Amino acid sequence: MTQKNILAGNWKMNLGISESRELALDLSSLSGTLSKTEIWVAPSFVCIPAVVQATHGSPLRCGSQNVHWEAKGAYTGELSIAMLKECGCSFAIVGHSERRHIFGESSSLVAQRALAALSAELTTVLCIGEKLEERESGNTDNVLEEQLSPVLEKLTEQQASSLVIAYEPVWAIGTGKVASLTEIEEAHASIENYWKSRIQFAPCPPILYGGSVKPDNFEGIINIDLVAGALIGGASLNYDKMKAMADISES
Ligand code: 13P
Repeated sequence: MTQKNILAGNWKMNLGISESRELALDLSSLSGTLSKTEIWVAPSFVCIPAVVQATHGSPLRCGSQNVHWEAKGAYTGELSIAMLKECGCSFAIVGHSERRHIFGESSSLVAQRALAALSAELTTVLCIGEKLEERESGNTDNVLEEQLSPVLEKLTEQQASSLVIAYEPVWAIGTGKVASLTEIEEAHASIENYWKSRIQFAPCPPILYGGSVKPDNFEGIINIDLVAGALIGGASLNYDKMKAMADISES
């Protein structure tokens, strides 16, 4: 089976409930017309029920921007897997660079989130990516390995089947600076090689690219063999831009 391209919108802390519902409705109609592309959206937590309700029955997938590993308890500001599933989420993003670098989430904490979600068969988009100084000092591969390692260490075959990796170089997020096609290709190849060196029981999961993806640069990116789709921030808030990228993906 050929895997469909994934166009995943990370709406971050943007769009209120009615704006989210409206954009999701448009995207759900669009997603019903696509044969080679899946559209996923991760609205802010409070908008998830409205998005799920409005798009019920369409192929659009709704997910969360984070998830906690415990079933319940004193974890102020967190949401459990069961809560997300009850809202209709079919995936969760973990380890986004904004979580790692603004909120100080370590790779081992991110791994706890990822492994719990994967155990519950919740599709998990594990974000990894280097900062500019790490790239400039030649440490990109080491950083990617350090971020992947605590997940791979404990991963089971069953968990691996729900995993998606997103390579998002921190310096390309929200900056308008997109990584070159060669940089993307090299990073994705390095992730795949590292995966193969650690995991024998499952193939490398789909790897999305994220960082200033927009209609202008999407075609080159999606045509790279090891790119399974894109995790899109700013441009995912705009229907016309998502439609333009879906058209490219379908062509
Ligand atoms: P931008 O597309 O706004 O650069 O954001 C990328 C991102 O962080 C997606 O998770």
